[in-house]
Amino acid sequence: MRGLVIRVLAVAAATAASTSVWAADADHGADLARRWCASCHLVEGTQKQASADVPSFSQIAQKADFTPEKVAFFLLDPHPKMPSFPLNRLEAADIAAYIGSLRK
Ligand code: HEC
Repeated sequence: MRGLVIRVLAVAAATAASTSVWAADADHGADLARRWCASCHLVEGTQKQASADVPSFSQIAQKADFTPEKVAFFLLDPHPKMPSFPLNRLEAADIAAYIGSLRK
């Protein structure tokens, strides 16, 4: 089962690289993030309150191993502690680009 997941991810990564979905729209991503993510994450600097032990998007962007690709795959993959969102690949890439734009 694990092997299958890894293979599927590898194929997805190869497809993403060859079709360059990463010409993503960070402004659209910011809109989506405010709509879907702000209830738990600090999405932007002006927002005051979010859940206490959820990393803010700027913290996520500062992580040493951060890449927009990883965030996009994280969003499209089912993940235990976060709800899954009805995002398509382009929307996930846009949000990832927005988070990437917060990296200093
Ligand atoms: C219901 C609350 C909730 C919502 C809504 C939510 N998240 Fe999260 N998110 C979390 C929690 C909790 C974690 C920490 C998970 C962990 O520590 O494993 C997290 C972690 C993350 C991470 C970091 C993963 C890592 O590698 O450390 C990313 C990226 C992320 N969220 C993106 C998003 C995006 C984008 C949205 C909106 C589409 C979103 N989240 C909406 C609760 C939420």
